[in-house]
Amino acid sequence: MTDTTPSADLGASSQQPAKAWSGRFSEPVSDLVKRYTASVFFDNRMAEQDIRGSLAHAKMLARQGIIGAQDLADIERGMAQIKGEIERGEFNWNLDDEDVHLNIEKRLTALVGDAGKRLHTGRSRNDQVATDIRLWLRDAIDQILALIGDFQKNLLDVAEANAATPMPGFTHLQVAQPVTFGHHLMAYFEMTRRDAERFADCRKRVNRLPLGSAALAGTSYPIDREFVARELGFDEVCYNSLDAVSDRDFAIEFCAASSLLMTHLSRFSEELILWMSPRFGFIDLADRFCTGSSIMPQKKNPDVPELVRGKTGRVNGSLIALLTLMKGQPLAYNKDNQEDKEPLFDTADTVIDTLRIYADMITGIRVKAGNMRGALTQGYATATDLADYLVKKGLPFRDAHEAVALAVRAAEVRGCDLPQFSLDELRAAMAHVPGAADKLADDIFGVLTVEGSLDSRNHIGGTAPAQVRAAVAQARTRLG
Ligand code: ARG
Repeated sequence: MTDTTPSADLGASSQQPAKAWSGRFSEPVSDLVKRYTASVFFDNRMAEQDIRGSLAHAKMLARQGIIGAQDLADIERGMAQIKGEIERGEFNWNLDDEDVHLNIEKRLTALVGDAGKRLHTGRSRNDQVATDIRLWLRDAIDQILALIGDFQKNLLDVAEANAATPMPGFTHLQVAQPVTFGHHLMAYFEMTRRDAERFADCRKRVNRLPLGSAALAGTSYPIDREFVARELGFDEVCYNSLDAVSDRDFAIEFCAASSLLMTHLSRFSEELILWMSPRFGFIDLADRFCTGSSIMPQKKNPDVPELVRGKTGRVNGSLIALLTLMKGQPLAYNKDNQEDKEPLFDTADTVIDTLRIYADMITGIRVKAGNMRGALTQGYATATDLADYLVKKGLPFRDAHEAVALAVRAAEVRGCDLPQFSLDELRAAMAHVPGAADKLADDIFGVLTVEGSLDSRNHIGGTAPAQVRAAVAQARTRLG
């Protein structure tokens, strides 16, 4: 096969080309290749952004005298009609026109003639698609930031209501020290606060304008990129045309921020699932987030948190997909980049749905405070308080640690909790550690209570109910 087929070229160029670039080709692609290379059925999600970007570009072309005022008016009229057709579901998306950009441009030309053919002056689909994705992602980030806010608002309400509800805090999933349920929930406020910061920071790098970079090297027309940036609400333009059309690091950053957010919600989900198990019995979830079993009539399964945990895997997968997509690409644009959209859209959809559902689910948590407190009577949750008491009375910490370990062993043998010992029994239990027993006095029993333990951790970031209330109040001022 040779590439010298002048007659075929002449033949094709004498009629209206079927494709925007078809004059150069001597044979059409097969149906399979057409389907394989087309993106219209997923990138038409960016139609609104594509039209917005085209209108700003056309306006700039007219201001710069590159197209006429009438051309601009025709383009605006045609685009208004197309927008309406798309919104009403009447637009005929066509696989033959490959992607959202060519579909809209072709329809525009059908509607307004030559002005439609002038729209692509000084532009390439390479800078066009990069602009569309950034516009789309900016909208998605704004939505996600608002939804994180809704989630946090509801979380704060439940945290405040439970600022003084004791539950065991765990390390290694073993009872460690008393905390309050409100304090535990506020950990997720902090995690999602950092998530929101990451999305907001990522937005800064998303919000830069590729348009004007054209295919890769810029364009010979006297364009005004800063005007287009202002029209579209971009903070600045991308300063290198090769970079602007090719890198998708902003999308990767978004997916990384999404992975972390999902990881936090997945951990929260794992806890909800554990807490809902009768073995814990700490909470119940509203029925609308659970399903039954088709065979076991007694079951109420926490399907929604389980799916959040599961969907985290899919979001992580998209992050890896985009990183892998990018790593081998030479500058500048390569068709590989068309593969950026589905993982990106899927990630945004998953994060948005998850946040929506979670904000509602939190309001449906029923706290079983009695069971939480009951769990604190197993596992010697105030053992550290006993050690701290001895230290404050002058015993070196390592000796105190050993004295309490002996007391815990005695309690285990007896099958009781530390506060159930009498003063003499406690003293006897730690008799082997010199200087320990005589530090004990009656005030130890206040220290060994759950409330005593909680109240004593009274500093910024501590679990004392007063601190939890202060943390909630401060968080509310941050949310505004
Ligand atoms: N559909 C393409 C994409 O998503 C648009 C850019 C195509 N550019 C090109 N030179 N083929 O990346």
